[in-house]
Amino acid sequence: AEDKLTYVKSKIGEYPDFPKQGILFRDIFGALTDAKACVYLRDLLVEHVKHNHPDVEIIVGLDSRGFLFNLLLATELGISCAPIRKKGKLPGEVASVEYQLEYGSDTFEIQLNAIKPGQKVVIVDDLLATGGSLVAATQLVRKVGGVILECLVVMELSDLKGRAKIDSKVHSLFEY
Ligand code: PRP
Ligand code: MG
Repeated sequence: AEDKLTYVKSKIGEYPDFPKQGILFRDIFGALTDAKACVYLRDLLVEHVKHNHPDVEIIVGLDSRGFLFNLLLATELGISCAPIRKKGKLPGEVASVEYQLEYGSDTFEIQLNAIKPGQKVVIVDDLLATGGSLVAATQLVRKVGGVILECLVVMELSDLKGRAKIDSKVHSLFEY
């Protein structure tokens, strides 16, 4: 049988010098424009969470590429999901954290009522690079009372050592 992971990885786009000189951009959308890679990617993510975190209660996805996977996982697992969004996008009372990106800085927010106190959370995103985004996300989830089981990403750029900055379990489907 075809290896799902190998197939998905083969469909990730590679763009040298984007968004600036010297950066090799790994493009998740290359996999999503292939029907079979979409199904395999869904299977890999769902099977991972079902097997390792059967007690998860809510999936939190990061604006914006994490949203490709939070609703998908939530519906497959029969649980709810919530967004972490960039500054100024969420209504009501929010918690905010500023973070450093590979190319600049930004602010993430979560609604105070997004997560019930003690709820078990898996955070999902497409990519772990420097880890700045996931560090901010873990801080926000804890601020509003969530208990983090894991940060789950499709791809990890190991050389950037982002994993070491994250104060929770981290899982990537594959690494570069
Ligand atoms: C990208 C990517 C991850 C993050 C990884 O998002 O989708 O969320 O950077 O980088 P880090 O580990 O160095 O924080 P980006 O902020 O470019 O926004 P997008 O998802 O809206 O494209
Ligand atoms: Mg992102």
